[in-house]
Amino acid sequence: MTRIVTPEELQKQQPFCEKVREHYIKTKPESPPLACVRTYGCQQNVADSERIKGMLATMGFGFTELAEEADLILFNTCAVREHACDRVFGNVGALKHIKRRRPEVLIAVCGCMVQQPHVAQKMKESYPFVGLVFGTHVIHQFPELLYKALQQRRQLSVTPQEDGVIAEGIPVQRDGSFKAWLPIMYGCNNFCTYCIVPYVRGRERSRDPEIILAEARELVSQGYKEITLLGQNVNSYGKDEEHGVDFAELLRRINAIPGDFTIRFMTSHPKDATPALFDTIAACQKVSRHFHLPFQSGNNRVLKEMNRRYTREQYLDLVRYARSVIPDISFTSDVIVGFPGETREEFEDTLSLVKEVGFTSLFTFIYSPREGTPAAVMPDPISAETKGLWLRELTALQEELSAQRLAVLVGTEQRALLENAEDGYIEARLADNSVVRVEASPSHIGRYATVRIDDARSWVMHGTVLSIED
Ligand code: SAH
Ligand code: SF4
Ligand code: F3S
Repeated sequence: MTRIVTPEELQKQQPFCEKVREHYIKTKPESPPLACVRTYGCQQNVADSERIKGMLATMGFGFTELAEEADLILFNTCAVREHACDRVFGNVGALKHIKRRRPEVLIAVCGCMVQQPHVAQKMKESYPFVGLVFGTHVIHQFPELLYKALQQRRQLSVTPQEDGVIAEGIPVQRDGSFKAWLPIMYGCNNFCTYCIVPYVRGRERSRDPEIILAEARELVSQGYKEITLLGQNVNSYGKDEEHGVDFAELLRRINAIPGDFTIRFMTSHPKDATPALFDTIAACQKVSRHFHLPFQSGNNRVLKEMNRRYTREQYLDLVRYARSVIPDISFTSDVIVGFPGETREEFEDTLSLVKEVGFTSLFTFIYSPREGTPAAVMPDPISAETKGLWLRELTALQEELSAQRLAVLVGTEQRALLENAEDGYIEARLADNSVVRVEASPSHIGRYATVRIDDARSWVMHGTVLSIED
């Protein structure tokens, strides 16, 4: 059974919020303290950071992008690949000079990386200037941890190894004003053999459907246009609970909320994505016709070694079924190249699956060994250089397929959400998740527009805004 943090328990953080506030009034009376929060990794971390920022705002913090002027520098970290960890170690190391110049600055590191015992140990030994280290399961205790870290000179490190909890009622400071992240579940039970996530995020915990619905209703009433439901495996939503609401039912209920908004979700696992789910999506007009469905490998032996629990044929059947009931559905995916023991022939099965499905885009990764996972001790004879060549081959193939796909869109009119300003253009996102650059006033960001696609020669599409919705 998932442990739910009780409201009384959460209430105990309130006095610590006051104490932190008082600490800064005493030590920095001239202006409110500033926090610089950097987030690495997936949207789950982004959503966690929004809660951490919510708690910081409650404690009287303002926010800055500049570490140099911050009173609190906090890194929310990711452990999914070696590269992600190296970046964090490098960036944390670079903060040492700030701490030397301004000893009153508190440097904190949280998230998936430090949830690994060997990393927490390394933080203690090699980064003593980091004042606070806390894992993914104690985010709701942040005010207390922050206060205690401010009171002591040595590093406070709290990374309990447990299955994780659900804490409701934490204030949220959202990064966006028209796009929102809505976690529906935490953790993962799948233990894909290459993946560190189940170790650092604990077991699957689904939030109560009524709480999710209330949050979704609030977002819609606040004018959010796009709600992305988050979980490591959203298709298994509700399986750990007895309320009987599964992912399809949750989608139906959110879809029924009145208002003009789009529902997206990530990530789906093919073993739990069913024809019935696609039937539901077909019937729910607010659910985006884009599906991120990681396949990881196109070869059955490799899939088995990865413990993915579906075959290439089952994956292709699912895609075929989805297209039969939702003809305009588009797929994106994640792929790992160079899993231990993968042969050239097996990699070619990945290439052929990519050709067969025709994805809008792919996130491609070279396999990265993660300490403590089963794959990390599997024989891995293929050189890093060869894996690099395979990756380039795969990305070249996808670029060719993407270009063909985009070319078909030229001349068509599409509904798109005007999202952000970039290089003098406004970037608009189509239903299939691809991006088109248009000329529009930045004041229209956050609104839907009808866009004509004019050009898709390069990797970036360009278009013209025909009309903008209210
Ligand atoms: N829960 C999601 C995604 C988790 S991590 C899912 O199951 O799809 C995001 C992606 O990172 C994964 O889909 C996988 O492609 C990649 N990934 C995870 N662990 C990795 C590793 N050790 N090396 C390389 N890529 C990895
Ligand atoms: Fe990792 Fe697999 Fe869980 Fe995704 S489903 S988070 S890849 S273990
Ligand atoms: Fe990284 Fe943790 Fe997400 S390991 S990918 S931030 S769940």
